[in-house]
Amino acid sequence: MSRHSDQPALQPESIAAVRSRRAHSVKWQRYPVDIVPTWVADMDFPPPQRALESGIELLRNGDTGYPSSDLAAKYEAAYREWSLQSFGTQPHPLRTVADVVAALRIVVMALTDPGAGVIVLTPSYPPFFSVVKDAQRQLVQVPMRRVDQSYTIDTDLLAKAAEDQQTQAIILCNPQNPTGRVFTKTELADIAQIADREGLTVIADEIHQDLVNRNFTHIPFTSLDNESASRAVVLSSPSKSFNIAGLKVAHIELPTDRAQRARLETSPLLALSQATPIGLIVGAQAYETERDWLDEVRDIIDDNFAVVQKSFAGQDLVSFTHREGTYLLWGHLNQLPAGQSAYEFLLDRARIGVGPGEDYLPGSPEFFRLNLAAWPSTVTALVERINDAFGTL
Ligand SMILES: Cc1ncc(COP(=O)(O)O)c(C=O)c1O
Repeated sequence: MSRHSDQPALQPESIAAVRSRRAHSVKWQRYPVDIVPTWVADMDFPPPQRALESGIELLRNGDTGYPSSDLAAKYEAAYREWSLQSFGTQPHPLRTVADVVAALRIVVMALTDPGAGVIVLTPSYPPFFSVVKDAQRQLVQVPMRRVDQSYTIDTDLLAKAAEDQQTQAIILCNPQNPTGRVFTKTELADIAQIADREGLTVIADEIHQDLVNRNFTHIPFTSLDNESASRAVVLSSPSKSFNIAGLKVAHIELPTDRAQRARLETSPLLALSQATPIGLIVGAQAYETERDWLDEVRDIIDDNFAVVQKSFAGQDLVSFTHREGTYLLWGHLNQLPAGQSAYEFLLDRARIGVGPGEDYLPGSPEFFRLNLAAWPSTVTALVERINDAFGTL
């Protein structure tokens, strides 16, 4: 693998070493030391050093006052080039913000009316539920279909939900958290056609866009030819790709449709979320120079998924979805111990802290989510612990 010579390759760490380095991490500090955490979606790998250095230099210079607009411009230029190289598309003009969830709140409130229906495909990243409810919009859950260890969009159900006069928007997560789907062009075109027909705003959260399995391709929603693509709002961030969620940088791709864009740009809510200077400078640097780092990380993640799939092949206690993107693995315990959810069983008997299925798919305690952006030795420990727990059934 080609690497810049001045950049150290990623050095594997033990579970104890990651825990001690991540002294202020919610993922690593929530549970006692004998539990291996595999829940919140950040990586166990240190972010790319050169990108961090640009932030360290800003701190060293004490350049920590109000930022000039050149930082956001630098970030936007770096992201344009990144997007062109990664997906062959020019993103729509950007607005930088602190994070994707804040951006989602802003966009839902700016582009839908109070009481409007907002569609969320389930299972879903839990904040989608709370953002819609907090905004006092109606949460319209459209379940995806689980077929052969994968999920597909039920276009009939989606069309029916979209037809409702109250429905104004759909929040699309692609690549999808937690199912790991990377939607195909046909699936995206189906969504776009429904949105065209019903005049819906598509709000596409593409934060996992850079973390797809090598055999799959991420297609930005705005690359479609549909009218709804020009009215769509895409949200993304370098935070997942480069493990910098705490630095607070993300962006909104503004719609190119003039009326829709004016509606968003004139919203006073837009001013409520600002990227930090350190986030902008580290994010821009990462987009400029850290593709090799990301490639290395993607290889580790792809290998981790292969290890887990292989380790649990040919047994019927647990099944996992086929992951196409994200570093998250959506699992299903086929045999639940009496009175326990999968989350409780795995915490209690395997001593691992997973994402509880109920958070993503209310009423489904048999599901759970693993985070495989971890060192291979950690993934081996997760597999061993799950197998040991099955031995107690
Ligand atoms: C789909 C999705 N959107 C948004 C976020 C959070 O992004 P941010 O920290 O920028 O709010 C996550 C984090 O796990 C996510 O999976």
